[in-house]
Amino acid sequence: MRRLRRTEAIRALVRETHLHPGALIYPLFLCPGEGVRKPIGSMPGVFNLSLDEAVKEAEQCAMLGIGGLLLFGLPAEKDEQATGAWADDGIVQTALREFKKNRKLDPLVMMADVCLCEYTSHGHCGVVARDGDHYHVENDASVALLARTAASLAKAGADIVAPSDMMDGRVAAMREALDAGGLEQTPILSYASKFASAFYGPFREAADSAPQFGDRRSYQMDGANLREAMREIELDLAEGADMLLMKPAMPYLDVIHMARERFDLPMGAYQVSGEYSMLHAAFERGWLEPERTMMESLTSIRRAGADFIVTYFAKDAAKVLG
Ligand code: PBG
Repeated sequence: MRRLRRTEAIRALVRETHLHPGALIYPLFLCPGEGVRKPIGSMPGVFNLSLDEAVKEAEQCAMLGIGGLLLFGLPAEKDEQATGAWADDGIVQTALREFKKNRKLDPLVMMADVCLCEYTSHGHCGVVARDGDHYHVENDASVALLARTAASLAKAGADIVAPSDMMDGRVAAMREALDAGGLEQTPILSYASKFASAFYGPFREAADSAPQFGDRRSYQMDGANLREAMREIELDLAEGADMLLMKPAMPYLDVIHMARERFDLPMGAYQVSGEYSMLHAAFERGWLEPERTMMESLTSIRRAGADFIVTYFAKDAAKVLG
């Protein structure tokens, strides 16, 4: 076997898995204001950006050959109905209109995350009904607002809408709302089997979306369940999902692999905030070599079967890939 490992040229020739900048998607966190570039403590190199700063960041991504952006918004005001998620002048809608006027950003696919958690006062991904000490995240009331959110983001210019809420039936409802709004060309990238993961911890600082009470385990999946993940994907396909987004990535490579074996539609994986933070924590201590570890983590996700990767390393990896 070692004959084919002798030189880098031979190794490159027989390499089975490749990364390229166009298959990397960079998440952006949009916030109100001007000239705002607020660092996220647990995610070195990641910021909350006001629109003017976000434009600079996006232009840099386009120059690096990155495939697209995944947009999240931190609204000025939150309420029980997540008004900021579906308002015509919502923070992501406003940014999308601006981005779409900028020809330098044409090479980027603009993906909009569709969820209510950044916009609800309680931080849950749907509408909450309270009954004394108990609470319940309502499915159908949430789906109605999510569908409205997806249509509003697509109308503002999102190339792809990406539901991450894990309510039942949201993909069908979004397809219907998009088609009814003349947005039949907008694909749905479904986070079909999103697990209730501790690895989202740092994101909740970045997106200011930590639930104020309880947790997300009544709607996101139990991390122990592989067969159930396949059922979730089948349902989303039947409802009209165009693409899949698997999440988290590294602790769930087996799920990515099985989904790749079973389903033929385009599939991405999200290397989530906690995966990024834990690697950075080790880089800061000098315990892991940053560039090699980053590239190995991304290669493993591609090897498992993901066509593209949403990652906070997108810019760094694109620079390495040249
Ligand atoms: C919104 C959403 C979350 C992430 C993507 N979309 C947070 C959550 O479900 O709590 C996590 C992304 C990351 O950790 O990088 N629901």
